[in-house]
Amino acid sequence: MSAAIPTQGRPVRALPAGVPAIEAVDVSRTYELDGVSVSALRGVSLTIAPGEYAAVIGPSGSGKSTLMHLLGGLDRPTGGRLVIGGRDVATLGAPELAALRNETIGFVFQAFHLLPRTSAVDNVALPLVYRGIGARQRRERAAAMLGRVGLGHRLDHRPNQLSGGEQQRVAIARALVTDPAVLLADEPTGNLDTATGEAVLELLERLNAESGVALVMVTHDQEVAARARRRIAVRDGLIRSDTAHDRPLSDGSGGPATLDGAPSAEPRSVSGSGPGHPSGGSGGAAGATGRLPRQAPGGVA
Ligand SMILES: Nc1ncnc2c1ncn2[C@@H]1O[C@H](COP(=O)(O)OP(=O)(O)OP(=O)(O)O)[C@@H](O)[C@H]1O
Ligand SMILES: [Mg+2]
Repeated sequence: MSAAIPTQGRPVRALPAGVPAIEAVDVSRTYELDGVSVSALRGVSLTIAPGEYAAVIGPSGSGKSTLMHLLGGLDRPTGGRLVIGGRDVATLGAPELAALRNETIGFVFQAFHLLPRTSAVDNVALPLVYRGIGARQRRERAAAMLGRVGLGHRLDHRPNQLSGGEQQRVAIARALVTDPAVLLADEPTGNLDTATGEAVLELLERLNAESGVALVMVTHDQEVAARARRRIAVRDGLIRSDTAHDRPLSDGSGGPATLDGAPSAEPRSVSGSGPGHPSGGSGGAAGATGRLPRQAPGGVA
């Protein structure tokens, strides 16, 4: 059921020219648990450019969700430097980081994380409360965003009155209502059946193409990852490969491209051994198509 879902809408707000949406330099994250240190990330460098579409793949426990939480400012690194929307998170207090997150990042999770007793439109409007936007305008913007994800007829339904795919579309609308530069999606189709997941994936891809929001998506599905123009493989807390592709692998004609666009037989490994929660608005100045050129904007150390 891949019925087209309308997504017409305004482009995301532009970041200053040349500013990456997110830049991580030799970032690590160690959890302390009952006196034991768990090194979930061990020195990861990568850059997310405005408008790009990247898939993050890797085995369970390899650090994908930890990485997404860091990239989105839901968590802070224990080492390295993390710059979101041009601002070093180490220089920000908690309220400033929350405001930056609200301006720059949208999150979509596998388990939707909607407020259960709250209508679809009020769930979507929530990030706008933190912007100090008045109630009427919040509702108008939330309703318009729900229209863009094909749910203009479900504004007052609560989550338990919606299907799984509809709930995830509400979550996507909530993530995008603030016009973020980056949409971080952690296995967004993981709780959905194949057909519903495909529709959600198509919606995410169309929003990326139309609005220029950068899409960074964790997936266990190799076929899904093959559709992204960039694939970031994580293993044991490190990036093992970071490759850009002219065309999706699935069409059989596109292969990995090097930084200058020449075909390359090998994935480009960028930081394998190098030393190295929810949402908000602004944007990738990725142009009308939001299409990345062929360079992997990834953490070239
Ligand atoms: N809050 C925490 N405290 C302690 N250890 C943690 C915490 N969160 C994650 N970890 C550990 O960090 C490692 C990376 O976890 P993470 O959730 O990032 O993996 P993942 O790649 O997202 O896995 P999955 O594909 O199963 O979602 C795992 O070994 C995990 O047990
Ligand atoms: Mg995970």
